[in-house]
Amino acid sequence: MTPLAFSLLRRLSPSEFRSGEVLAAELGVSRATICNVVAQLSRQGIGIYRLPGRGYRLARSLDWLDAPRLEAQVGDRFLLHVLEVTDSTNTTLMRWAAEGAPHRSCLVAELQTAGRGRRGRHWESVLGGSLTFSVLWRFPQGVAQLSGLSLAVGLALYRAMVALGVREAALKWPNDLLHRHRKMGGILVELQGDALGPAAAIIGVGINVWLGEARARIDQAVTDLATVLGEAPSRNEALATVLRHLDEVLSLFEAQGFAPLRAEWDAVHAYHGRHVALSLPSGQVVQGVVAGVGEEGALLVQTMRGVERFGSGEISLRPAKFAPA
Ligand code: BTN
Repeated sequence: MTPLAFSLLRRLSPSEFRSGEVLAAELGVSRATICNVVAQLSRQGIGIYRLPGRGYRLARSLDWLDAPRLEAQVGDRFLLHVLEVTDSTNTTLMRWAAEGAPHRSCLVAELQTAGRGRRGRHWESVLGGSLTFSVLWRFPQGVAQLSGLSLAVGLALYRAMVALGVREAALKWPNDLLHRHRKMGGILVELQGDALGPAAAIIGVGINVWLGEARARIDQAVTDLATVLGEAPSRNEALATVLRHLDEVLSLFEAQGFAPLRAEWDAVHAYHGRHVALSLPSGQVVQGVVAGVGEEGALLVQTMRGVERFGSGEISLRPAKFAPA
């Protein structure tokens, strides 16, 4: 989406029609250009009504990020950058980190054009209906010490959901945010640095606030905050809440690792004590009962061979179809 498309969208609302002529004059382009941009936006799934003689109006309001408001709420904890569009906040922040961006940089995007999920998957997001951001946290210790990090981040998301009024949120190992077994958010942690340090973690978070028709494009059971809460919360409020909890959890993790968060993590794990099947990168499937997570974030599974530990890597977890009696 172009800067012109953003400028146009910011001038539209669901409550009144705005004439193409006025919009064209305000933006310094022709009416035909306005018409083309509207057609492009409509093809991208953004609902815009057009009434001859009256102009254009949005089908539903767009909840824009408010950089000054976010700055006032969490500017003491994070160095915020709000972009209209980027390919992926993780990719961009990784580049900035390599160029020396400071500890606690946070990059938020209104729109990602190539959002990335775990295991090479695409991360779908909606303009005005998703939270997509990444935080750069620099650790004096090396990457070898950061194995429980993405689980710690999950706990911050869980706590933020509770603070926003979500009941029945849960986590799924290693780092999915769920509501009643439907995915509401995900985490992608990418590391830079050596085993012995210092290290930089780029912590990417995606949360579904209002998915609308995008839901149909996602090939797994998903939900959004609007469904869970009955109405969509303000994205600014949700983001500030998540960032406050992230700051708290990351500060504790930095000082003490995952150990002090472990019991709480087990308590909110959707599959704790459940019979599961783990698909390993080798193609092997291991079945067993989830016994908890280890101090370094590994999943502990009681199998026929005893308690086995699984690192998060490329493993996927699902409920077992046939649990032994
Ligand atoms: C997953 O569950 O597969 C992880 C999803 C992580 C998505 C977020 S959105 C912000 C950041 N930028 C990306 O490209 N990915 C993460």
